[in-house]
Amino acid sequence: MKKFLVLVLMLMAFGGMLFAGASDEADVYKVGLSFSDYETERWPVEEAALRKQFEAIGWEVVTQVANHDPKLQNDQIINMITQGVDVLIIVAEDGAAAATAVDEAAAEGVQVISYDRLIKSANLACYISFDNVAVGEAQASGVLDVVDRGRFVLLGGNPQDNNATLFRKGQMNVLQPLIDSGQIEVVADQWVPEWSPTNALSIMENILTAIDNQVDAVVASNDGTALGALEAMNAQGLAGIVPISGQDATTAGCNSIVKGELTMTVLKDLRNLVPLAVETAVTLAEGREIPGLTTYSLKELTGDDLVGDVDCKFLEIISVNADNLFEEVVVSGFQTYDDVYVGIPESERPARP
Ligand code: GAL
Repeated sequence: MKKFLVLVLMLMAFGGMLFAGASDEADVYKVGLSFSDYETERWPVEEAALRKQFEAIGWEVVTQVANHDPKLQNDQIINMITQGVDVLIIVAEDGAAAATAVDEAAAEGVQVISYDRLIKSANLACYISFDNVAVGEAQASGVLDVVDRGRFVLLGGNPQDNNATLFRKGQMNVLQPLIDSGQIEVVADQWVPEWSPTNALSIMENILTAIDNQVDAVVASNDGTALGALEAMNAQGLAGIVPISGQDATTAGCNSIVKGELTMTVLKDLRNLVPLAVETAVTLAEGREIPGLTTYSLKELTGDDLVGDVDCKFLEIISVNADNLFEEVVVSGFQTYDDVYVGIPESERPARP
């Protein structure tokens, strides 16, 4: 009899464990990751890092990639809301178009983190990024370190990406006084749709033809577009002679710097942004207040006549050129030694860290 009782008690305890297990299951949080595209090197890298960190804390992860199509991105976001995500992390292709999906998410009680790029909606839980105005300032200053006067070409990013506007704002903070004093003349000013290197190549070809190759410096807004422009410059014997800026410290961008073609890049350390996104998602899912945010109006963030505020956090950036690339990018482990120095003879490489 005693044995029977013990057995019953054991069964009850086991049943209780099963029950507890089932209810734990219901507590698993789900995050939706929405990317504009995988053409830019950083996005697939960040997807993998975000996924890894979320899965390590037991979250479910769903990812969608929009191939530069704002409408597709909104459909994918709505689909993830239907799948029951608790938090959405969005890299928007088009900061204005994605606002519709954010508003819908907010109406469904889904918290949205605008990741790296601003979505123009006051219904965001927050916007986490880098100091994008400082990025633009570093790009202009990096080029001015080499040539501080003459005929400048400006290559902006995708105009639908609010970061492209912020980069330009930073670039002009540095360039405008020199333009006003006549030290610099802007001989071409174009934006590169979808941040596409191919678009940058043909835009730069046309610019060089129009200005008869008379260019002293190029302020480009990221590595991908800079490398596209460099292809056009290379065909005219200008690569490595005319300074040009980049951004993202990509493998190809860093390799171009050590080869003496790209002048500078900007390191935005995703090893800081990714954990911040994860931490923020957890805080939001648990209904707690996110620490350390600063409130900005949509108007000051975009320059557009928009109503409402967004809580933001902006991380620091590092300006990288041939002098500090080894230390900041290779020794810090952001890119590997082998990737950065590919094609560089052993004798011209620094010692392996
Ligand atoms: C920007 C981003 C940059 C760059 C670019 C191209 O919004 O801040 O780091 O990657 O998009 O995708």
